[in-house]
Amino acid sequence: MAGPLTVKERPVVSTAADVIAGKAPPLVEVRGWVARKHTVGGLLFALVRDGTGYVQVSARRGTSDEAYDAAKGATKESAVIVRGSVRDDRRAPGGKEIAAAEFEVVSLAGSWPITRTAARSRGFLFDKRHLSIRGPKAIAAMRIRAEVIGASFDYFRENGFQLISAPIFVQAAVEGGSTLFSVDYFGKKASLSQSAQFYEEAALPALQKVWIFQPAFRAEKSKTAKHLTEFWMIESEQAFTTQPENMKVQEGLLSKMVERVLERRQAELKILGRTLRQPEMPFTRMSYDEARSIAEKKGFGFEWGDDLPTEAEKAISLSQDSPFFITDYPLSARSFYHMTYPDRPSVTMSADLIAPEGAGELATGGQRIHDYKELMSRITSQNLPTESFAWYLELRKFGMPPHTGFGIGVERCTRWIAGLKHIRSASLFPRTVSRISP
Ligand code: 4AD
Ligand code: MG
Repeated sequence: MAGPLTVKERPVVSTAADVIAGKAPPLVEVRGWVARKHTVGGLLFALVRDGTGYVQVSARRGTSDEAYDAAKGATKESAVIVRGSVRDDRRAPGGKEIAAAEFEVVSLAGSWPITRTAARSRGFLFDKRHLSIRGPKAIAAMRIRAEVIGASFDYFRENGFQLISAPIFVQAAVEGGSTLFSVDYFGKKASLSQSAQFYEEAALPALQKVWIFQPAFRAEKSKTAKHLTEFWMIESEQAFTTQPENMKVQEGLLSKMVERVLERRQAELKILGRTLRQPEMPFTRMSYDEARSIAEKKGFGFEWGDDLPTEAEKAISLSQDSPFFITDYPLSARSFYHMTYPDRPSVTMSADLIAPEGAGELATGGQRIHDYKELMSRITSQNLPTESFAWYLELRKFGMPPHTGFGIGVERCTRWIAGLKHIRSASLFPRTVSRISP
């Protein structure tokens, strides 16, 4: 390109990814943000990010002075439109660059607050999350998250599950009253949904195999690397099934998520420094008793009947190198609706799907009580208010077959698959005990 564009030269609107992939025409227009800039003599290089990736733009003094001056004035994170010719350059990231004939600053950015020193503080990065999400790691995590979600849509469609939705304003506690966020609903006490499971169960006689993808809310005070107060859950429920079939659905789903990310998000895995392997099916199934003895041997023993304490769960997770199930949880560690074995009334037909590498629980699922009398006696024996579960109970009077289901956390899966240290990095704007902004 000799100089500024003439009227006859019309650039084609393109993307950074297409330029790098060699799919763009010779003369392009790219719209994006200035990620980085440096000058070598009279030559200026700007790394421009758009929704598809990064491309280097060069502007040369003496060739197109106007473009050079505009690029020089463009601060980090300014929104820009660049027009110029694509050329090969081995030194440029991706081996291509755009030689700018025109460099238009559409919105000039102020002095970028996320300096190298400031970026060392995690707290600061999350206080400035509305800006820090432009970083390559945050972008990579979001792209992986989208594949995790996309894979689940495909998986359920391919396997004949119907997608449904359920309310977020609810009255019954699916997972116990202690973690409910309450809401004043025109003077009535309501809460935000912890799980859509009961609505899925209600939908079974209508649709037989259902799944759902929506937010869930937990007023959990736990400040761990795997707890959010608002997260997205994928849940599924299937009529005429038993717990072994339920586990097959879960391992199929998780395998599909990993497969999809491996297929489409290699560059993002690399940015995050993550080595991910396709897990082999079937996943290992170990009982709660076996898991408990692993924890005990590693010095994290706990009482039979307790839910796995965080440290014990981590130790058990570290003992495996692929996702696995822990089966047969004690009833005392489970919600009231779980079915127990006829010959072991204190053990439920349930399982948690656990990620290796210390990541821990991804999913919980199990066989539900489908018999009216049995469910009623469970509710009363646990001193739960029968009126809150009236419609859930009534389902058992009108053709409820044996059925199973599970819930799997989107951010938990993303965290493990992307190899993120903390679950908040798997959310664009995380909500935790100590954070409700930005
Ligand atoms: O294990 P949970 O509490 O199980 C249920 O809610 C069942 N009713 C689901 C069902 O069977 N339909 O939650 C399911 C999953 C967990 O395994 C975890 O992945 C995720 O939801 N989850 C959380 N993710 C982030 N932060 C939290 N505070 C979470 N609580 C649960
Ligand atoms: Mg659970």
